[in-house]
Amino acid sequence: MKECVLVTGGAGYIGSHTAVELIEAGFDVVIADNLSNSDMGAVEGVRKITGADVPFVQVDTCDRAAFEKVFEKYSFNSVIHFAASKAVGESVAQPLMYYRNNLTSFINVVELMKQYGRPNVVFSSSATVYGEADTLPVTERTPRKPATSPYGNTKQMCEDILRDSVAAYPGLRGIALRYFNPVGAHPSALIGELPRGVPNNLVPFITQTAAGIRECLSVFGDDYNTPDGSCVRDYIDVVDLAKAHVVAIARMTQGKSKADYEIFNIGTGKGVSVLELVRTFEEVNHLKLNYKIVERRAGDVESIWADTTLANDELGWHAERTLDQTLRAAWEWEKHVRGIK
Ligand code: UFG
Repeated sequence: MKECVLVTGGAGYIGSHTAVELIEAGFDVVIADNLSNSDMGAVEGVRKITGADVPFVQVDTCDRAAFEKVFEKYSFNSVIHFAASKAVGESVAQPLMYYRNNLTSFINVVELMKQYGRPNVVFSSSATVYGEADTLPVTERTPRKPATSPYGNTKQMCEDILRDSVAAYPGLRGIALRYFNPVGAHPSALIGELPRGVPNNLVPFITQTAAGIRECLSVFGDDYNTPDGSCVRDYIDVVDLAKAHVVAIARMTQGKSKADYEIFNIGTGKGVSVLELVRTFEEVNHLKLNYKIVERRAGDVESIWADTTLANDELGWHAERTLDQTLRAAWEWEKHVRGIK
C-alpha cells in the first residue's frame, strides 16, 4: 500500500509544488487548505500535472474539531505543515493574528498526530530564524538570533514546539526544513506563486513588473557591504525545495532518521545579490526591467546564504535547477497567469 501524506496549506505556493513531487515519487497525498491566501486553481494544477485525483479538504487547521475530521477520514502516517501566515510586515502590524494562526494550527497538528498515532511531521521553517548571522554561510548549528518580527518568532516557537514534543511523546518524529528564498514555478507553468495584492517578495514583483502590472521595481538599497551594494540571498527553486520534502518524508517513513528531531537548511549554498538576480532575469528572458534604487527596507538582513552540507550528505538532496532555469520558469508562469504570449 502507498504511504499517504497530509499536506496542510497544499493549495499554496510551496505546498502545491510539494504535492506534485510527492505524487510523482509514489506517495498518496491529501491536501487540506482553508483557501485564505490561495485558491482551487493550484489544486487543479496539481491534479492536471500528476493525473491523480488528489483529495482536497477545505478546512482551517486552527479549527481543531473540523481539522480532526481529516484525521478520522484519512489514514496518513505523515503530515507536512505549510498552512501559516507568512508576511513579515503584516505580522508586525497584526501580531496577535500571527501568533493565533501559526501557533494554534501547529499545536493542533502535533496534538492530533499524537492522539491518532501518526508519527512523522515536516515543519516549514525559515532562514529567518538566523537573523543577521555573525558568520556566513549559516549551518544548522549557527545560533538563532532573537526574532525581529512576530512571523519570525512563530517560526522559532514552532521549531521549539516540535523539538519538545518529539522529546516528550514517544513515536513522534519531526524534521524542520529551514527554507532560504523559494522562487520559480513548476516547468509546466500550471502552478506557481500567486500573491494577492502587491507582492512583498522580489521575484513576483519582478515578474509583475515585466508583465506591466507594476510600473517599476524598487531595489531596496545599494549601499550594503556586499559586492554590488545590494542584499545577498540564497534563491532556491521551488521544485528543488519541494523535492527536499519528499526525501525528508522518505527518511522518516523508512526509519532512516538519526534523531527524532532533525533540522536541515534547504538552499543552493550560493549567495546572489538583488541586482545580479534582476540582471539574470533580464538576460534569460530577453527583456528590460524597469527598476530604480530606493532606500533600504526596514528589517532586511544584509546577506544570508546556506551551508547545505547536512542536507547534501544526510538527505542525499541537492539543489539541481540553475538560476537561469528558475527565472525562466517564473516568467513563464507569470505569462501563463496573465495570458501573455
Ligand atoms: N527586494 C527588493 N525589492 C522588492 C522586494 C524585495 O529590492 O520589491 C529585496 C529585499 O530587500 C531583499 C531581497 O529582495 O534584499 C529578497 O527580498 P524578499 O522579500 O523576496 O525575501 P526576504 O529575504 O526578505 O524574505 C524571505 C521570506 C521571508 C523570510 C525571510 C528571511 O520571504 O518569509 O526570507 O528568511 F522571513
